[in-house]
Amino acid sequence: MKFFVDTAEIEPIRELAATGLLDGVTTNPSLIAKSGRDFMEVTREICGIVDGPVSAEVVALDHATMMKEAEVLRKIADNVCIKVPLTVDGLKTCKALTSDGTMVNVTLCFSANQALLAAKAGASFISPFVGRHDDNGFDGMDLIEDIRLIYDNYNFATEILVASVRHTTHVLQAAKIGADVMTAPPKVIHDLFKHVLTDKGIEGFMADWAKTGQSIL
Ligand code: E4P
Repeated sequence: MKFFVDTAEIEPIRELAATGLLDGVTTNPSLIAKSGRDFMEVTREICGIVDGPVSAEVVALDHATMMKEAEVLRKIADNVCIKVPLTVDGLKTCKALTSDGTMVNVTLCFSANQALLAAKAGASFISPFVGRHDDNGFDGMDLIEDIRLIYDNYNFATEILVASVRHTTHVLQAAKIGADVMTAPPKVIHDLFKHVLTDKGIEGFMADWAKTGQSIL
């Protein structure tokens, strides 16, 4: 499963990229606003840190303007992935962009039927929001299971990008279902490394090693 980080903050992206485990970045208008940075400038900077897809979202709601915005965004770097909302205009834009080889991430997906439409529109990625789905009394992971089943039924190439990830259990469940990608805030990715018994084990080994009076170097 590929790991994307869901942020527009440069330092956490650099830190995670340095682990060699980061496959891409997702941003959205709220994350750009939170960063306080210029959209084009920060997106360009992020694209220079990771080789994988960096999602940059259009903000227009109509197809014609979405196309114009996508034209500007895709010039930022080769690894820009245009993010469009799951609307009629968004999917028209997706179809037009992917037909000419541009990567597209269809966002704000909350049903398997929406995911089916996105795949038919040639989306590179579909982003079902599991956390927001859970918040509204649904089971976000049921949605991922349904989409996996449908995409496998028809061999759709669209990658399932599990979004709105809130905790490490979401990551585990997404991996068990066979999602292609997950995007999570930096904290959730850092939490994946942690286990109390790992810390305790290291503490014990260090204490015993100190008693030997030896050094490796
Ligand atoms: C994904 O592309 C979105 O940016 C993101 O995962 C939304 O997450 P949220 O529900 O925590 O805002």
